[in-house]
Amino acid sequence: MVKIAVMGHGVVGSGVVEVLMKNHNGIERRAKEGIDVKYILDLRDFPDLPYADKFVKDINVILEDPEVEVVVECMGGVNPAFDFCMSSLKAGKSVVTSNKELVAKRGQELLEVAKQNNLNFLFEASVGGGIPIIRPLTQCMAANEITSVAGILNGTTNFILTKMITENMSFDDALRLAQNLGYAEKNPSADVDGDDACRKICILASLVTGKHVYPDKVYMEGIRNITLEDVAYADKFNAVVKLIGMFKVQEDGRIQISVAPRMVSKSDPLAGVNDVFNAICVVGDATDEVMFYGKGAGKLPTASAVVADVIDCVKHRAARKYVYWEPAVDNMIADYHDEVCSMYLRLCGKSTDELMVIANELCRECVYTDGVNPDEIAIITDIGTYAEQEATAKKFLERGVNVISAMRTLTL
Ligand code: HSE
Repeated sequence: MVKIAVMGHGVVGSGVVEVLMKNHNGIERRAKEGIDVKYILDLRDFPDLPYADKFVKDINVILEDPEVEVVVECMGGVNPAFDFCMSSLKAGKSVVTSNKELVAKRGQELLEVAKQNNLNFLFEASVGGGIPIIRPLTQCMAANEITSVAGILNGTTNFILTKMITENMSFDDALRLAQNLGYAEKNPSADVDGDDACRKICILASLVTGKHVYPDKVYMEGIRNITLEDVAYADKFNAVVKLIGMFKVQEDGRIQISVAPRMVSKSDPLAGVNDVFNAICVVGDATDEVMFYGKGAGKLPTASAVVADVIDCVKHRAARKYVYWEPAVDNMIADYHDEVCSMYLRLCGKSTDELMVIANELCRECVYTDGVNPDEIAIITDIGTYAEQEATAKKFLERGVNVISAMRTLTL
């Protein structure tokens, strides 16, 4: 029987204990050994739980118990999670985490110590919750050069955008509903401003490039400024607005990486991913497009991925699984101004006839639509670098045209 400890008894931590107990027999068959939760670390008391005797408040109880072989971290945040994970690895215990902020910000240091100690540091649940993505990227697609990854990586923002698209609900109302349903936090910033999706795309980019990609180096825009007019224009262009975390590997090996709302053509499979669902589209040079879809958050889906990692740790005690990336290198992230895409621009300030004439002069191949309001139009600009798109927007301003909103399209 392998003994493990679970740090944090919140939504995910309690889900991990539940899945391990409920599916004990099947897990034992697959791990080839039983897995027993010996300790649960939490500052709170849970006297009514049938396993109340497992709770401890002091990390040293876990660190000093040689019987504990695997430590599961479901506390969230970087502190004290980082110290606890590092101490566990240094104490000779493999670590499994669902904590994307920890992996995105401090993953390399933990991977390094895991490697030095011939231990596992696994984090399947950190991206896409219950969706298998870390293992597919590192194992099933290992024969490929990955050329791009684009995903809907945050369920809360996808829920809000879905309500705006399908029910004409304002951003504020949709956010309130998401909060009432328990999807969004009281302070929704990490979701709606893009940080959560950014951490996840950084983890995927680090895995693909083999070098740590830090969230604070990534161009990031959230969805606070998306209006119902933008959503209506997207529909006129046969597209939908989605918050997309993506990166493309350039020929020089550097990556274009960003999190931003984008107009996504309805013909793209990502356009059909609604509500709190997540999806990740990976393009490999041998496989072409592969899409992963499912529940990106929630107690049991996330616990499913955590427990799968625990099983892997148990099965790979002697021969460590090779999940690793090196420290970051300078100049690895290309300037976001160099990204090639077309843009949606919402224009007003002249008669619609004049707006169309100017649009045709400035963007010869542009596609345009009449306004969702009188005296405005919207266009999808010619494809070009983001720097060129900014220059075009400036030229509109110089011609007396107001650019009410602008958004990238998804161009892979
Ligand atoms: N807040 C996240 C989301 C939870 O909405 O997707 C899972 O990381």
